[in-house]
Amino acid sequence: MKPVLELEHINKAFGGVIAASDVTFSVMPGEIHGLIGPNGAGKTTMMNIISGIYKADSGKIFLSGKSIAEMPAHRRSVMGIGRTFQSPRLLKGANIRDNLLVGTDVAQDMGYAKSFFSRRDRAFEKELEEYMEIAGFSIDLEDDISKLTFGQRKILEIIRSLLANPKIMLVDEPAAGLNENEGENAMALLRLVASKGIAVLFIEHAMHLVMNTCHQIEVLNFGKIIASGTPQEVSNNKEVIAAYLGRADDD
Ligand SMILES: Nc1ncnc2c1ncn2[C@@H]1O[C@H](COP(=O)(O)OP(=O)(O)OP(=O)(O)O)[C@@H](O)[C@H]1O
Ligand SMILES: [Mg+2]
Repeated sequence: MKPVLELEHINKAFGGVIAASDVTFSVMPGEIHGLIGPNGAGKTTMMNIISGIYKADSGKIFLSGKSIAEMPAHRRSVMGIGRTFQSPRLLKGANIRDNLLVGTDVAQDMGYAKSFFSRRDRAFEKELEEYMEIAGFSIDLEDDISKLTFGQRKILEIIRSLLANPKIMLVDEPAAGLNENEGENAMALLRLVASKGIAVLFIEHAMHLVMNTCHQIEVLNFGKIIASGTPQEVSNNKEVIAAYLGRADDD
């Protein structure tokens, strides 16, 4: 099996701040891959570099073996990079269905009808039902988005990016601001995603969720990978404990 995503020697600085320093790792299909580390370590920056919001100063990025480092963000998303943000970005004043479909519709308007076909079909409804059930809530698609709790909105954002059939999902702090139950639901959703062969790159500060959900973990500190391995390997690593895990569990 070949990696979905490969990062090789990625560097990025903002003025004097080094946000990525020689970052190299890869993510396999169906793998839940955690990206952890202290505040300001460069986790979100790495997602921005992968999705094309920022350009790396140097380094290579491959998606299913194709070099994407020079591609604009919208092409990368069409090629199969889905993402969600630290705070949900949904359309206020619109109903849930429109919020879910907005990505697919925009893609279609841009001429990507083949891969992002209109999902107003039965397959769409079925897929959505499955995700919603795992995510632990039932919704009326015609309801206004304001009816959802913050936690439900964050989960909905994950589902929205899933409906575009990504090869890999970049999920930035899905459990931040969620209660324990919603956090577990979000993890169940990520496990379902992975079971379909989609890779998940996942940033999270809630260590119990990371350790119970990830197959592989990269630990960043000051833009550098200080450890990588299974949850057990990184949680026993002295440098990781000193830099990050020695402090409180959650933010
Ligand atoms: N657009 C930008 N301009 C200048 N500096 C930036 C920019 N984006 C990120 N940084 C800096 O890069 C460093 C890494 O930030 P990043 O947001 O990637 O951290 P993070 O690991 O996601 O942190 P957190 O856990 O707090 O979300 C920080 O010092 C941050 O201030
Ligand atoms: Mg961040």
